[in-house]
Amino acid sequence: MITSSRRPIALITGASAGLGAEFARQLAADGWDLVIVARNVERLESAATTLRASGADVEVLRADLLSADGLRAVEARVAASGDRAIGMLVNNAGYGLPKSFHENSIDDEIGLAEMLILVPLRLTHAALSQMLPRRSGTIVNVASVAGYTPRETYGAAKTWMLSFTRWANVFYRKRGVTVSAIAPGFVYTEFHERMGVSRGSVPKALWLDADTVVRIGLRDVAKGRAISIPTARYKALVAIASLLPTSFVVAAAARRR
Ligand SMILES: NC(=O)c1ccc[n+]([C@@H]2O[C@H](COP(=O)([O-])OP(=O)(O)OC[C@H]3O[C@@H](n4cnc5c(N)ncnc54)[C@H](OP(=O)(O)O)[C@@H]3O)[C@@H](O)[C@H]2O)c1
Repeated sequence: MITSSRRPIALITGASAGLGAEFARQLAADGWDLVIVARNVERLESAATTLRASGADVEVLRADLLSADGLRAVEARVAASGDRAIGMLVNNAGYGLPKSFHENSIDDEIGLAEMLILVPLRLTHAALSQMLPRRSGTIVNVASVAGYTPRETYGAAKTWMLSFTRWANVFYRKRGVTVSAIAPGFVYTEFHERMGVSRGSVPKALWLDADTVVRIGLRDVAKGRAISIPTARYKALVAIASLLPTSFVVAAAARRR
């Protein structure tokens, strides 16, 4: 439990694996204390041991963000003020569904929309409740290049995140709070394995390391950018996709599930 740390505190959702675990490593190395959130408490405790050895205070918060109790507990921690106030929220936890919209159950689709839209929406609201009065804070939303290319409800949810972030970046900047989104392409994490889809359909040249994505992302966040698209290659792909007919982009994205 953090008591009177002078280091700023970052809360990261989905910190037991992939990009979230990498955010934890890089932020700890950069002088942040951490609150790490996910369901798998053994993995969180193991990560916490390593992170503490690098000098960070680490609070483990086991929570299923799709359960009412879990989300309430994380919201309360994000909204805490005084010595325990977090200076950075990283809305990172997420997953994808393996099938097409009509093939998934409506409960699975609603769960995905909750995870990718309602959870970051609620946690951002909770964070602003303590950041705006202090006129200080940073909110990082992990979106995806899928937000630029029509792709099932996953892409639509990430489009919501990019649009919300663009607005919030301008609106809250004057009030001392930076809101930024990072929109990566394909990243080597557990994401595709958890979804049960093979990485084989995606050319090697399109895969990024979590280390690169988080390093470029945090650099752009520090500059106050609304959106960070890690690597020139993906910036170019997003620019090209915006010029192509939707039917072409949808077909290309479907081949790369
Ligand atoms: N990998 C990619 O190619 C890629 C590309 C673009 C964007 N993204 C985005 O990057 C973010 C992180 O994904 P990743 O690639 O790092 O995936 P990952 O390696 O599968 O990690 C997902 C994280 O989310 C947590 N999580 C999942 N469901 C949860 C729940 N109900 N409650 C709490 N935590 C939950 C997992 O922890 P537990 O299982 O322990 O709960 C894990 O820590 C996501 O928002 C994803 O959409 C990924």
